[in-house]
Amino acid sequence: MAASNTQQNYDKISELKAFDDTKAGVKGLIDGGIIKVPQIFIHPEALEKKTTNPKNTHFIFPLIDLQNIHINNKEIVKQIQEASETWGFFQVINHGIPVPVLDEMLRGAQRFHEQDIDVKKPYYSRDVARKVMYNCNFDLFSEKSRAANWRDSLYSVMAPNPANPEEIPETCREITIEYSNYVMNLGYTLLELFSEGLGLKPNHLKEMGCAEGLGILCNYYPKCPQPELAIGTGRHADNDFFTVLLQDDIGGLQVFHKNQWVDVPPTNGALVVNIGDILQLISNDKYKSIVHRVLANKIGPRISIASFFSTGPFATSRIYGPIEELLSKDNPPKYRATTMKDFFEYSNKKGLDGNSNLSHYKII
Ligand code: OGA
Ligand code: NI
Repeated sequence: MAASNTQQNYDKISELKAFDDTKAGVKGLIDGGIIKVPQIFIHPEALEKKTTNPKNTHFIFPLIDLQNIHINNKEIVKQIQEASETWGFFQVINHGIPVPVLDEMLRGAQRFHEQDIDVKKPYYSRDVARKVMYNCNFDLFSEKSRAANWRDSLYSVMAPNPANPEEIPETCREITIEYSNYVMNLGYTLLELFSEGLGLKPNHLKEMGCAEGLGILCNYYPKCPQPELAIGTGRHADNDFFTVLLQDDIGGLQVFHKNQWVDVPPTNGALVVNIGDILQLISNDKYKSIVHRVLANKIGPRISIASFFSTGPFATSRIYGPIEELLSKDNPPKYRATTMKDFFEYSNKKGLDGNSNLSHYKII
């Protein structure tokens, strides 16, 4: 038994290594004309998929209009608070980022992933000290990883201490910088609304440094010949304060709500916002960091841009624990405090293994 396990692991590792050495990602497999999903991508979650209830249409995914935010402030705060407490997810419209900027960001990501492999290769890395890197599965070699995800990604650190413009691939350089400036401004607005929704002063979360770090992940999900065997992104919750996600019109993103998977409907001009683990931790479980995933699809490529508000490994020594103003005798801290760096290192090492990062920090 032990011997056969070792054999299996050995084969898996050499298969992973052979795939990784191509530095061509899932896109490279598709370009090579593959018609079967390789073993390393056969994902237990894809095989379980059929058991979930397909009738999830009676849920209305929250859509919040940020127009006239100063006039309708109370109403908008209430909507954001409710969505953050129940879904941990919502979409926003009239968020201040022009549609042509959204479209060009999606096109820029597509241009990067679809250019010649020799141009992409130098960016291929999993070194978290790098400010710009491209790879297929940041946790490809993690022992806990259940299987590889059917996606390739380009990651750029935009704050603090952003990547030098020359480090960002030319195919998406200008738009990544422009888009990240817009997203940062939207992030400040969201932090005010999140703060007020917790009953705190509008600038509370910003002053805690919740928008000091920003990383932009450009995901490319190639079409999949056997979507019933693979998964685009396995179930996970985000290891940041919050995330702003731009998706194209293909769909596939699902949120685990009330014990079932609910589709996040692609909505023209809208952005998806979700609470991350650290905001759940500092809000002492008031806001929820909800598990989500992306299905693989026969049609593609699907492109998404995830903007993570987090300093990742570049954090200062600042400590994050449940916010004191929210605590009382009846509401004692549910988590131990941590640094962003520690939290990032823990979750990055753990990878997308399907389990919560937060349980590691939970005290009650
Ligand atoms: C992520 C993520 C969703 C998507 O990158 O953390 O959840 O639609 N992405 O690509
Ligand atoms: Ni995510």
